[in-house]
Amino acid sequence: MKRSINEIFKFRADRWVNYTPSVRPSPSEILIYSKMISTARETDSNCLILGATPELRDMACNLNLNVTVLDTNKYMINKMTGLMTRQNPTENVIVGNWVDYDFVEQQFDFILGDHVINMLPLNQYASFVDKLYSLLKKDGNIVTRIITVPQNSLCTNDEAIQMYDHGTIKYNDLIWMICLNNAYNKDTNIISYRELVLKGRKLFSDGLIDKETLKQFEYYDDGMFLSALTQREYKDVFTTKFDIVETKFGNDYRFCKTMPIYKLAKK
Ligand SMILES: C[S@@+](CC[C@H](N)C(=O)[O-])C[C@H]1O[C@@H](n2cnc3c(N)ncnc32)[C@H](O)[C@@H]1O
Repeated sequence: MKRSINEIFKFRADRWVNYTPSVRPSPSEILIYSKMISTARETDSNCLILGATPELRDMACNLNLNVTVLDTNKYMINKMTGLMTRQNPTENVIVGNWVDYDFVEQQFDFILGDHVINMLPLNQYASFVDKLYSLLKKDGNIVTRIITVPQNSLCTNDEAIQMYDHGTIKYNDLIWMICLNNAYNKDTNIISYRELVLKGRKLFSDGLIDKETLKQFEYYDDGMFLSALTQREYKDVFTTKFDIVETKFGNDYRFCKTMPIYKLAKK
């Protein structure tokens, strides 16, 4: 069954509490976001958050930034707002598309977004980068975590399952490895969560994972497609307009290395 993008995000919003890092940013990743912002922050900095990610909005609220949130899905915004640790009365929430929403140019000191470029099809990457460039102040920064795919396979399914059985990795890392090995199409650069769930069911029917683990796979049965490139390819995408001034990785799950957090500055 093919779901519309609104249905996909309704499914995701209802299950958000069941997701763990890397889908949600981890504590060490949020710390990186806040450090990357803190170095250049003024008290009244304007910050645009792409998407409704509650962890980022909490962080920006704690740093006293003037926050604008831009997300295309009202249901997702409402659900995510309910998951914030405290409400931010001055947050300006806008329902709109990142690629074509019209703000006054160069108004933001910071633009933050978690896995945002991955939500877009490859043919929108260039317009997205142009948009970011036009919205950011001259000396502003973009801080964004990106899903990347490794140049070479990190481990086989069997190795991942073995590490999981031995307790070396948790189910979030297992799911991500199975995803990279089975749900990423190298020709189209698309990750299909449907493929991931089908593989999870197959592993279960083959007796390789248990029912509780299968339940974790089922949370991804939303029909979502993500785009993902290698770190080298993302560098080419961004350096058309930006310098990558910092790259950092979280450290609280095994495959953090595939989720760089970039701090970008205008060229
Ligand atoms: C911030 S992203 C990624 C969050 C999380 N890491 C995940 O994998 O779901 C999720 C949000 O992006 C929003 N979104 C996706 N494409 C969008 C677009 N083109 N413009 C505005 N919002 C968009 C969705 O509505 C959703 O709330």
